[in-house]
Amino acid sequence: MGDYVWMDLKTGREFDVPIGAVVKLCDSGQIQVVDDEGNEHWIFPHNASHIKPMHPTSIHGVEDMIRLGDLNEAGILRNLLIRYREHLIYTYTGSILVAVNPYQLLPIYSPEQIRLYTNKKIGEMPPHIFAIADNCYYNMQRNNRDQCCIISGESGAGKTESTKLILQFLAAISGQHSWIEQQVLEANPILEAFGNAKTIRNDNSSRFGKYIDIHFNKRGAIEGAKIEQYLLEKSRVCRQAHDERNYHVFYCMLKGMTPEQKKKLGLGKATDYNYLAMVRTLREILAIRPVDHVFPKSCLCSESISCMLLHHAQVDPQDVMNCLTSRTIITRGETVSTPLSMEQALDVRDAFVKGIYGRLFVWIVEKINAAIYRPPSHELQSVRRSIGLLDIFGFENFTVNSFEQLCINFANENLQQFFVRHVFKLEQEEYNLENINWQHIEFTDNQDALDMIAIKPMNIISLIDEESKFPKGTDTTMLHKLNSQHKLNTNYIPPKNNHETQFGINHFAGVVYYETKGFLEKNRDTLHGDIIQLVHSSKNKFIKQIFQADVAMGAETRKRSPTLSSQFKRSLELLMRTLSGCQPFFVRCIKPNEYKKPMLFDRELCVRQLRYSGMMETIRIRRAGYPIRYSFVEFVDRYRVLMPGVKPAYKQGDLRGTCQRIAEAVLGKDDDWQIGKTKIFLKDHHDMLLEIERDKAITDKVILIQKVVRGFKNRSNFLKVRHSALMIQRYWRGHNCRKNYGAMRTGFLRLQALCRSRKLHTQYHMARRRIIEFQARCRGCLVRRAFRHRLWAVFTIQAYARGMIARRLYKRLKGEYHRRLEAEKLRLAEEERLRKEMSAKKAKEEAEKKHQVRLAQLAREDAEREVKEKEEARRKKELLDKMEKARKEPVNDSDMVDKMFGFLGTTSSLPGQEGQAPNGFEDLERAQKELEEEDLDAALPLPEEEEEDLSEYKFAKFAATYFQGTTTHTYIRRPLKQPLLYHEDEGDQLAALAVWITILRFMGDLPEPKYHTAMSDGSEKIPVMTKIYETLGKKTYKKELQALQGEGEVRITHIDGHKKNSVRHKLVSLTLKKKSKLTEEVTKRLQDGESTLQGNSMLEDRPTSNLEKLHFIIGNGILRPALRLEISAKSQLSFSVVPPTPSS
Ligand SMILES: Nc1ncnc2c1ncn2[C@@H]1O[C@H](COP(=O)(O)OP(=O)(O)OP(=O)(O)O)[C@@H](O)[C@H]1O
Ligand SMILES: [Mg+2]
Repeated sequence: MGDYVWMDLKTGREFDVPIGAVVKLCDSGQIQVVDDEGNEHWIFPHNASHIKPMHPTSIHGVEDMIRLGDLNEAGILRNLLIRYREHLIYTYTGSILVAVNPYQLLPIYSPEQIRLYTNKKIGEMPPHIFAIADNCYYNMQRNNRDQCCIISGESGAGKTESTKLILQFLAAISGQHSWIEQQVLEANPILEAFGNAKTIRNDNSSRFGKYIDIHFNKRGAIEGAKIEQYLLEKSRVCRQAHDERNYHVFYCMLKGMTPEQKKKLGLGKATDYNYLAMVRTLREILAIRPVDHVFPKSCLCSESISCMLLHHAQVDPQDVMNCLTSRTIITRGETVSTPLSMEQALDVRDAFVKGIYGRLFVWIVEKINAAIYRPPSHELQSVRRSIGLLDIFGFENFTVNSFEQLCINFANENLQQFFVRHVFKLEQEEYNLENINWQHIEFTDNQDALDMIAIKPMNIISLIDEESKFPKGTDTTMLHKLNSQHKLNTNYIPPKNNHETQFGINHFAGVVYYETKGFLEKNRDTLHGDIIQLVHSSKNKFIKQIFQADVAMGAETRKRSPTLSSQFKRSLELLMRTLSGCQPFFVRCIKPNEYKKPMLFDRELCVRQLRYSGMMETIRIRRAGYPIRYSFVEFVDRYRVLMPGVKPAYKQGDLRGTCQRIAEAVLGKDDDWQIGKTKIFLKDHHDMLLEIERDKAITDKVILIQKVVRGFKNRSNFLKVRHSALMIQRYWRGHNCRKNYGAMRTGFLRLQALCRSRKLHTQYHMARRRIIEFQARCRGCLVRRAFRHRLWAVFTIQAYARGMIARRLYKRLKGEYHRRLEAEKLRLAEEERLRKEMSAKKAKEEAEKKHQVRLAQLAREDAEREVKEKEEARRKKELLDKMEKARKEPVNDSDMVDKMFGFLGTTSSLPGQEGQAPNGFEDLERAQKELEEEDLDAALPLPEEEEEDLSEYKFAKFAATYFQGTTTHTYIRRPLKQPLLYHEDEGDQLAALAVWITILRFMGDLPEPKYHTAMSDGSEKIPVMTKIYETLGKKTYKKELQALQGEGEVRITHIDGHKKNSVRHKLVSLTLKKKSKLTEEVTKRLQDGESTLQGNSMLEDRPTSNLEKLHFIIGNGILRPALRLEISAKSQLSFSVVPPTPSS
């Protein structure tokens, strides 16, 4: 990417050459390039031959195009283009200056620039027309040789401007500023007025060629000049193409004259004249017909410019009319006058006008020369030197080329010949200078073409001339002759068939086809005898003067008078002779576009001009020799990469040797390259080989550097990535391992737990089984023992009961017996008594009767007693049933505890009421005191102390050893500031404090919270164990602890925020309202007591039953193993003041 290439689009157009382009994208086999004109192109692989690498010299442009590696049309064109875009309009090709018309005024022609370019060698300063002028001038003085400067180019390319610039420069540096110098400079406007006209190509187009020879005296001052003119375009006086004008002079004259002057001369406006304001259609121009279709006899004189001329020529109007409408022919000694057709008449008119204008122009040039030319005096001849400036039309090739083009191109062939020979001579000079063997170098010039046109016998010009003089000669016969003579010549292209009227010539710049129609007429360039006669009859001296030669010639001589071509050839020969005596410089003017616009570069137009300029010949000559030459320094610096170890040129002692070594190594010893004194001379293919090798070597090095840099970059990147990857891996593995470890640990812990639990379970079950077994055995034993005991008891009871029953029965039977015995006794007594009264039998019967009554009485009494006993037994049974029923009923724990601990009295006592009541509070305490006394009275006596010696395990000793702070083994009826024992866990510490508060409340030393109605949130319904879990985990404990520890004695009343405080204050004030007797101190104590309970809903929310308190304390003991000792210590403390009950 960014490489420059030549892109050959191969359009096949004649003037299309490869265009420079820069590679923008080089991707996936396709190449995107942007050419010099900014157009984008895609080059596909199958079109790869369309692009060629660009030589480095072509990339940014060079001042001397001879140095271009790509020394071809494309290279030259691109060089001109890139310089033109930078307003650098001048470029050298060797000693040739190429000037591209800027079509704008550049600030490069100031006196300062003139000064800068004065006395400088070519190449010392950037290319400039002044550099050429300066070299002409100083070469002339140094070498004492005439100089010439050949300025060529298309119409509008800037030849005349360049000529004027050189003239200006010469006038400036010659330093005389004399009258003659002024005249030389001022001759130009006159010449331009008469010889220049507006054309479509150039608003100030010179319609003639000129050679100005400026003469300098030995001091180098302008001494005089001589102007030579060539081939004025006379036809322009009569007709101009669309958008073109006649010669400037007519318009200037009509515009600039005063009305009086105009009147005097009988002149009007420019538009009045057909010759000056011709509006023609294209068809008419091509047909070259005049505007008048009807024969306008009067118009012939009245409308045209000739009218004015003829008027001033002071000729007889009738003569003029005759002369223009009829022709006098002398046949066999007789003079015959034949009328002319309209076209012929108009042609005669035009020919007459052209004749007058042509001669007028020649006269003007002569007049100017007469003013500025000083013929050399014999003595001074040896010292007078001149600089000739040739401003001549370049090679022309139009759609229709006529006789004029042949003359012009003939002149250009001559100039090309001159140019080629000069360039080759220069080459030879350089080879000689450098000691290079050039004998074998040959070149071809355009001698063959020149020979055919004008040199060899029967050449084209001479054939045309001959035919022109031949009375019966026509354009067709002329063409036949040309064909028959030259058809075998490679430079001649005959017409394709007999009907075609054009032939072609292969010029140095390309083939040009010439239309033969009108050739002879133009060549003859003679005026008819009638017209000469008419002029002769004129009384005007000036007209007579300009036609003097013709008049003097006479009719016959006039016929033999030199034709236009022979005249031109002669003057050209003269010119070439002059030029060959001079040291030449060449200026090739290039017109960048047809629109006279600045900064517009038409490539095809420029290629055409380059080709026509003959500059390619220089290139061909160079190519025939050694086109590539490098100074030793350049060569070493450029190609030292091809030989490892060769130092840069500035470090080299033997540059020539180094060059030779490099060339031998790369090009081989025997190849056709040569080494001169300061330069090395190479052929194109050498340069190519060197460039390829250099490119390869540099590419190798570039690739190596790229490789190393990429390697380094990728390696550091890789290391970075690897380091990062390793880091990620490490962390990931660590994370994974930790996760696995965590999972495994949890697993193991679970497993351990399971194992342990299993072990414990088994142990437990074994122990349980054993215990159960043991228990069973024990129980069995006990049961058996009890059974035995009971059996024994039962037996005993049975025995006793039986005994008792037996005894009771015995007693009853005994009683009965006694009563019966009594009755018997009574009966016997009665019988005895009655026997006394009555017969024995009767008595016996009577006694028996009475005895039976008594027996019935006894039986009745027995029955009654039996009923009584049965009633008693039933009652007892009922009682037993009742008791059994009562035993079976569930026990109410709460009632039971209340029943058990009822001796502690109600828990409604207020804190701070223990001990002696302060003054004024006795009444409040009394009830409590009484209760306490009662309770104390009711309290069971302390158990008798064990006989065991426990002095070693005294609680006091334990307290003194382990209790924190100043706490002693004695019970205090206040909340603790810190737990008795040290606990690491904050939860434990807080729980310890909460337990103490619960104990205090249990003991009745601390009041229950009373405001459960205000605070009721349903929490009282929550089981106490849930609250333990809930409250023991609360963070608020921490705050309490901090508050307790940090503040010391200072009680914090606002720790839980304003809201809570306000609630408390409300409650306090409520309490105060209720108990108006409460003094301030009581209130304070109330507040103080409450403040420590913050955050524990269990302790704060509502009063709790003793069972709940017990559950709370024991629950803490179960959940917090660390607290067990604390709890036992506290119970110890509390037991010290409370007589132990069976439950405690
Ligand atoms: N060096 C220059 N700087 C600025 N403008 C220039 C320069 N050279 C030429 N021109 C412009 O180009 C126009 C044509 O130039 P010039 O008359 O020299 O062309 P020419 O080659 O003599 O053409 P022709 O063959 O028709 O006479 C000039 O009128 C001028 O406007
Ligand atoms: Mg000109």
